[in-house]
Amino acid sequence: MSLELSAPPQSAPACADDGVWLECIACEEQFAPFDEIRYTCDSCDGLLEVRYADPPTFEDFGSGASTDGPDRGVWRYREALPFDLGVTLPEGDTPLHEASRIREEVGVEHLRIKHEGMNPTGAFKDRGMTVGVRVAQELGVGRLACASTGNTSAALAAYGARGGMETLVLLPKGKVAAGKIAQASLHDARILEVDGNFDSCLDIVQELAERGEVYLLNSLNPFRLEGQKTIGFEILEEHYADYGTYPDRIVLPVGNAGNTAALYKAFRELVAGGALDESEVPKLTGVQAEGAAPMVEAVQNGASEVRRWEDVETRATAIRIGNPVNAPKALPGIYNTGGTAVAVSDEEITDAQRALAGEGIGVEPASAASVAGLRKLRKSGDIAADESVVCLTTGHLLKDPDAAFEAGGDPEPVANDAEAVLDLISPGERSPLQAASRRVSRATESPALPALIGGGLALVYLGYRKLRSDS
Ligand code: F0G
Repeated sequence: MSLELSAPPQSAPACADDGVWLECIACEEQFAPFDEIRYTCDSCDGLLEVRYADPPTFEDFGSGASTDGPDRGVWRYREALPFDLGVTLPEGDTPLHEASRIREEVGVEHLRIKHEGMNPTGAFKDRGMTVGVRVAQELGVGRLACASTGNTSAALAAYGARGGMETLVLLPKGKVAAGKIAQASLHDARILEVDGNFDSCLDIVQELAERGEVYLLNSLNPFRLEGQKTIGFEILEEHYADYGTYPDRIVLPVGNAGNTAALYKAFRELVAGGALDESEVPKLTGVQAEGAAPMVEAVQNGASEVRRWEDVETRATAIRIGNPVNAPKALPGIYNTGGTAVAVSDEEITDAQRALAGEGIGVEPASAASVAGLRKLRKSGDIAADESVVCLTTGHLLKDPDAAFEAGGDPEPVANDAEAVLDLISPGERSPLQAASRRVSRATESPALPALIGGGLALVYLGYRKLRSDS
């Protein structure tokens, strides 16, 4: 099974363990999955993929699996994963929201928002970690590690804690949103802040992994992507249940391009298993921030490789990445599904974040890139009005509270007094007369009015009596 969409199923090689093996996507060398720790090919350093002798069909999921297990979430898809259950919190089974106002504004047939920010640690990374940490247990490794723009570190810290393992995270100093560091901190990861960007953090962690010091759980680890491919299975199942069709397109933010690679793998496996026709595969459409868009540059040039960007900058810090390591898996995904890639400005990202928030869907900036990209590609005509589109939102609003405050309104100070609050929320009625009339009209609606009137009348009567007796 090459990276072609039409690749037929493969038979298991001698090195396979229960129908599962690792294969290099460049030179096709095959390896036993759990005998030794490896992240790339021994011969050519190409990326590795997990391969299965039995590609899945939709009937294999949930209660259709050959083993008992969860009916929802990542492990519903255990038949398409290397284990039946992992270190779980549990993860997956995220909402597929409607967003009718954005749908009407952009003008597409259907629009759904797959909100991966609703995972246990608030990002899609949990899907990868539940599998990755399970593999780490299988391999018997001690210390787990990752480089991260924030979300991977939060997920690694939580799943490592769950599995009772030591965790180490390398973060680009000053460029990680507060919520994410708070999570890594409380889940007790050892946090090292590197004076460099995400790509240099990843270079360091890869070197530590090669020296055998740590087990690498970035998306370079092929098992991480196995968990993340369940996003694709879930979207297809849910969309089909609601509309009787699969989405025409999935629009997603791109950083290291792990999700793009993982979704493409989900579709290839279903095509190989005969569950999905090639013509039914959604067009994978990647979105990057203008200040960190090496994948977009490659797609626009029709290139098969990306050029590493040394200087990257964007408010969407989660995708502030200049060297997407999964590009060799993700670019064929974009090309072979008829998708595309587009760059959006930070302002467009913030606008989209507000639009999603206006539908009750709270996301962090990187997530909103998908909706910003949809808007842009509709305007340019690259996405047609009759398409059914799913936008992936990858992380929760609370991950980046500073960005939320910047995009939203500011809290206003007010005195500890109802009148002061009213004066602020009804600014048209601030003259003394209007305020007095408002007080009267409120008093007339008050259940205390009869008592007040009665009390008033009594006072008038007593005053009258006093005047009479004095005279
Ligand atoms: N959206 C969010 C919220 C992310 O955290 C990331 C990646 C992406 C999108 C990009 O996904 O790498 O699969 O293309 N965050 C990583 C991290 C790099 O360290 O948390 P991708």
